[in-house]
Amino acid sequence: MRTPLDLCFCLLTLCGVTSVLYGVRVVVEEDSDAVLPCSPSTKEDITAKLFDWKKDGQEVFMYDSGIHYNNGHGSQDLQFKGRVSHFQDQLMNGNASIKIQNVKMADSGNYICIFPRLQPRQTFNIELVVERLLKDRSGEIPGASPKPFITTLDETKDWSLLQCEGRGASQEPKVEWQDSSGNILPAERQVSERGGRYYVTLNTTVTKTGRYRCVVTQEEISHQIHSETFVFIDEKLCEDCSTKEITGWLGGFVLGAAVLAAVQALLVATKRITVTCNPGPCHLGADYNPSA
Ligand SMILES: *[C@@H]1O[C@H](CO)[C@@H](O)[C@H](O)[C@H]1NC(C)=O
Ligand SMILES: *[C@@H]1O[C@H](CO)[C@@H](O)[C@H](O)[C@H]1NC(C)=O
Repeated sequence: MRTPLDLCFCLLTLCGVTSVLYGVRVVVEEDSDAVLPCSPSTKEDITAKLFDWKKDGQEVFMYDSGIHYNNGHGSQDLQFKGRVSHFQDQLMNGNASIKIQNVKMADSGNYICIFPRLQPRQTFNIELVVERLLKDRSGEIPGASPKPFITTLDETKDWSLLQCEGRGASQEPKVEWQDSSGNILPAERQVSERGGRYYVTLNTTVTKTGRYRCVVTQEEISHQIHSETFVFIDEKLCEDCSTKEITGWLGGFVLGAAVLAAVQALLVATKRITVTCNPGPCHLGADYNPSA
């Protein structure tokens, strides 16, 4: 049963912000932007005040009466350089929230927002939780599977037998054949382990023309990568193809003959040979010039 407290929790979670003891938790997906909230209880105009954002000892962002990291204030941690901004138009409402662009897993952790000169001095705790996305992490994580290897093992005019070889790491990867709509195709699977790595071989037989994709997923590191192949199966179209080929070939032959005849005619015309055979023995005409 839902208690009013649960409902309250749900509403807060919907906004991606959950109140936790002594602070706020912000949950965002990797590669998106995160707004970390901070407003002193006095709600006074902080345009001419100082506030400082830190994360586990790192300098994230500092604002001091109009001067901040994006216009010359030094010593910001490299991890946050060029990615953190405040809300200028919100300062007069006492809002010292910041936005961190394009959050990475490394941005997860505990942040504090401090007003060192306010009386009494105010400190706020904000926890940022970055959720991993399933995406291509080859080149980013050492154990990430490379692109799977697709081969056509066998084919007839009606079907094609495709094989996909995917490599995992310390855990068996999920390997799937999908059609162009993302439907998972039935497949025969074989798993082997060599040198602490898992190898998955997946056979599927396809009977329709289309794009087919082999997808390798390693949940433990949120890595996903795929390869694609195009299969062409269409008996009817192929009968058309061969008729077209024959017509084309015949056409070419006829055209070739016509060209040959025209060239011969041209040669004859240039040489202007006249042969007269009737009556009596044949003789070449007076216009015949042997040197031509
Ligand atoms: C502070 O400003 C940000 C950005 O406009 C906004 O999302 C947030 O709700 C504001 N916080 C408060 C307490 O008004
Ligand atoms: C895939 O098909 C080939 C050829 O028929 C066969 O040798 C191989 O064992 C099959 N692999 C799997 C996983 O079924």
